[in-house]
Formats: sequence, structure tokens, C-alpha cells
Amino acid sequence: MRKKFVIIIFGGLGDLARSKLYPVLFNLYKKSQLLNCSRIIGTGRRPNVGREEFIQILKDSVGNDDRDFLSLFEFVRIDLDKAEEYSFLKESLVRFKEEEFIFYLATPPFTFESIITNLGNFLKEFSNEKKIVIEKPFGYDLESAKRLNIITKRFFREEEIYRIDHFLGKETVQNIFGLRFSNIIFEGIWNRNFIDHIQISALEDVGVEGRLGYYDRIGALRDMVQNHLMQILTLIAMEPPCCISEGAIRGEKVKVLKSIRDIKYEDVPLNTVRGQYEGYLKDEKISLSHTETYAAVKLYVDNLRWDGVPFYLRTGKKLKKKETSAIIVFKKIPGLFSKLLDCTPQEDIIGFKIAPENKIILSFQLRPLGGSILSCPIPTSMEWTGPNMEAYETLFVDIIEGDRTLFIREDEIERSWEIVQPIIDFWKDDPKIPIYPPGSLGPKEAEDFIRKDGRVWRYLSQNS
Ligand code: BG6
Repeated sequence: MRKKFVIIIFGGLGDLARSKLYPVLFNLYKKSQLLNCSRIIGTGRRPNVGREEFIQILKDSVGNDDRDFLSLFEFVRIDLDKAEEYSFLKESLVRFKEEEFIFYLATPPFTFESIITNLGNFLKEFSNEKKIVIEKPFGYDLESAKRLNIITKRFFREEEIYRIDHFLGKETVQNIFGLRFSNIIFEGIWNRNFIDHIQISALEDVGVEGRLGYYDRIGALRDMVQNHLMQILTLIAMEPPCCISEGAIRGEKVKVLKSIRDIKYEDVPLNTVRGQYEGYLKDEKISLSHTETYAAVKLYVDNLRWDGVPFYLRTGKKLKKKETSAIIVFKKIPGLFSKLLDCTPQEDIIGFKIAPENKIILSFQLRPLGGSILSCPIPTSMEWTGPNMEAYETLFVDIIEGDRTLFIREDEIERSWEIVQPIIDFWKDDPKIPIYPPGSLGPKEAEDFIRKDGRVWRYLSQNS
């Protein structure tokens, strides 16, 4: 029989809990996946919130007032920086003797060290089994990530730690693995002999939307590149694991990160671009900020499979439209058509569209219908479309069931920070930041950045 558990959400009044975690918990409840859940405790420090207000927040967040679901919840007011206030949580937890505790840190990275320390200290009095889920970014640079690993391991065993990156719960992201390793026709061409370059993008039309307190200290590189985009890169570049096990899959991902060529501090301008959308300061009522809301980075994976193939990672806010994608751009076909017929060959591509829809698109060339056999080929495509699923839901089930395959390992997190650290340092020392208009494709510098390599940014959506 499955273990009973209690979920404790730090940041229970925050944006993440309200927009993602509560709706996901409601879905799991409807699917009878919370039958063993004895309690869900939300914590927050807002003085004007009591049980009634908390229940209202829950109702608004899930769009339902199911009494049984709401009765699972309890609110505990704690100022997470004050060690003495953790006793309020202790009072709530002490009645659960058998249950496993699942602590979920849905708070900004600069709060993690103090929460984990305070939590760890009071947990010494409990013998319950426990898990801790830590949101991204795990730390805010290499040093803080290392420190956070040390502190977390002081109180939790590695098997109890779930460093979450919700992109790994996305259907199409998981299908990168699925498509590559289940089909000989793709795996055979998945290398530097056939692939020209790879683009991994998370473009958003929304701005900072009231998250300035978090975002202005973090910026696009730490918010998206170090974690979400780097994770997609590992799934595209990894070797097949020896076996379907947590250790084997995570091990292969770490090998990719270790093979990424370090960007030297002085080479940062050659390999990156950043920008800030116009109005970022005005909208958010702050006077000066050098925080990037757009970041593009070029990386190389120095191994036998990927030697010389650039991986372009880019993300930005307030852009023309939302598109999250991974695009594999193949080399142009040599020979007949281009040389004899004077046609300009196009590249074939495999596009993983991660948002707003789940699609895998294969673009290739065919002669035009009804044209001569020697006509210049024109681009055409085939696509698979899947349903939209909530990434956090899959990951929550994994946490409950204790499957850490899709969570980030200690060495994985540190290596991904090591890769971006020179960029963090350089950008800090050189605060000049290009400004781009909201609703555009990003800073002009980003167009020049890829054009100088003889390439262009690709989009899977029409009219981008
Ligand atoms: C989060 C970032 O991790 O991912 C946000 O903090 C970003 O800034 C979000 O908007 C994008 O995720 P999704 O799933 O909405 O594409």
C-alpha cells in the first residue's frame, strides 16, 4: 500500500502556487491521485491572510469550490526568515506520525538557504520520511548553487532532493528523447555529419507581469537559459542511456554538460547577446536596471557526435509572440538540384514545438505538384500534434511516487551554472544593454549575432 503523505508549500500565496501548483493538485485530486494525501499546508507571511482568505485564493486559483478538495488545505502564517516562526509549522505537522512530508519550495532562490536551514533544524525532532522539492533557479550563480547543495545535503539525503525544472515535464520535451531513441530513421542522422546547427528558443509575448521583485534580481539568463534551455540541450545532445534507469539517464545528461565548451570571460561578447525591452523600467516603476529580459547564447558540445555544430539558445520577454521550440536544422543537400538545376536548396528541419502547441514538424523539400521532374523543389511539411498537458502534473506524480529521473542532479546543476558563470560575470562588469521594442523579435544585435554565422533565427509558428 502507498504511503500517506502531507504536502507543505512554502510560497503558498505566491504566483507559482496560485497559477500552477494548486490547479495541478486539483487535477490530481479529481483523478484520485491524492487519496493518500492527509493534508496540504500552504505557508505565507501576508498578515491579512487567514484560513478564509486562503480558501478564497484556492477557489480563485482552481476555479472550483469542491468542499472535499478545499478541506484538505490548511494555512500556516510564517515569516520564512524568522527561525522562531517555524514552530507554527511544527505544531501543524506534529500530529502526522506516519506520513511522509513533501516540502515544496515555491519561493525565489535567494530564500532557499534560510528556509532549508530553518526547516532542517526543526525536522531533527521528526522521524518521518521526507522529500524536498526545490524550484529553479537552484541558486543564482555557481557559488550559491554549490553552497545550496552543501546546505541541503546537511539536512536531506540526495535521494530525498527533487531539484525541479518544469520544462522536463512538458510532453514535447520528453518526446525529444522519445523520438530520438525509438526511431532508427532519426537516430542515424542525429550528428555533425547531417546537422548544421540547433536552435532552442523560449520566446514569450508577456513581460515581467508583477514579478519584478524576483525577475530584476535574476534576469533571462538565470531564469531560462541556465535551466530550461540547457535541459532541452541535454536531451537533444545526449547519448542513448545504457538502460532505463534514473542514474543512467541523468548520467548521460551530465556528460553532455561536461562536454560543453567553456566560454572564456573575454569571449562572452562574441558568443552572447542580451537586451531589455523598452518600458521595462517604466512599467515596473523602478528607476534603473541592467537586467536582461532577452538573452541569446551560442554553445558547442565538444564531442565526437557534435563537434563543430553550434547550439543557439535564446529567450526573451515582450516579444512578438510566444513560441517555445527546439529546431534541428540539417545541412543543405549537395549535388544535383543546386548544381545542375540552379535551384537554391533549403535545409530540412525537425522542429519540436513545445508551446503554445505540442507539435513535432518535419520540413523537407518536394518537387511542386504537377511540375516537371526536374523542377526546383519547394518546402513542404508533415506534423504530429499532441494534446496540451500541464508539465507540473507529471512531475508532481513523479515526486509522490519517488521517481527522480526528470529532476536535476547535484553535479548537473553545478555544471550548468559553471557554463553560464562567465556570462554572468561579464554582463555584471559591462552594464551596457541594448533596448528592443516590445512586440518585436528582440534586439537588432540578436539578428546580427546569428547572421554573422551565415544563419537566421527560425520559427515554427506562421507569420513570425
Ligand atoms: C518560468 C520562468 O520558469 O518559466 C518564467 O520563471 C517563464 O519567467 C516561464 O515565463 C515559462 O514557462 P511556460 O511553461 O509558461 O512556457
